[in-house]
Amino acid sequence: MLANRVFALALGLAVFGSVVSGFPSRPARAQEASSTLDGIYTDGQAQRGGDVYQANCASCHGKTLEGSGQTPALTGDDFTANWVNQTMADLFDKTNMTMPADHPGKLTREQTADVLAFVLSSNKFPSGKAELPTAEESLKKIRIAAPPPQS
Ligand code: HEC
Repeated sequence: MLANRVFALALGLAVFGSVVSGFPSRPARAQEASSTLDGIYTDGQAQRGGDVYQANCASCHGKTLEGSGQTPALTGDDFTANWVNQTMADLFDKTNMTMPADHPGKLTREQTADVLAFVLSSNKFPSGKAELPTAEESLKKIRIAAPPPQS
């Protein structure tokens, strides 16, 4: 009995200790939750996305994403203000389900991720080493932040 209680106490302390100290060490936190400032797409992906953009989006949103008439710009304060503090899953779903407006659903998930990498790069968010994912679960963990100041 006593041995059991001592063991339970020791185990309890060990668990408590590991919670407090963060040991055993966990996988890097950065992967669990990140923002559009953390380099969440690659240059190559943005380049592919540029081709998708020119073929499917530029006719309405403009060659340099400036928008025209009823079609909003995809760069600048008005655009980012619409999305700040939402997640990349929100922006992905909007794009994947409703764009291009004259042919919704035309883009594959890969093409949607690529075109959003291009949009992120046009808004001066930094690129990184991993491509923007297509999985909803991963996209939900990426918060859209205000872009770095544009010069
Ligand atoms: C036929 C014209 C047309 C085409 C082509 C088109 N769009 Fe749009 N897009 C619009 C219009 C109009 C809106 C505003 C209404 C709305 O939000 O649905 C819009 C809105 C958007 C928004 C939301 C903007 C905001 O400020 O919240 C995104 C993102 C977007 N489009 C991305 C794309 C992408 C990426 C493509 C190419 C795959 C594309 N669009 C192609 C007309 C178009």
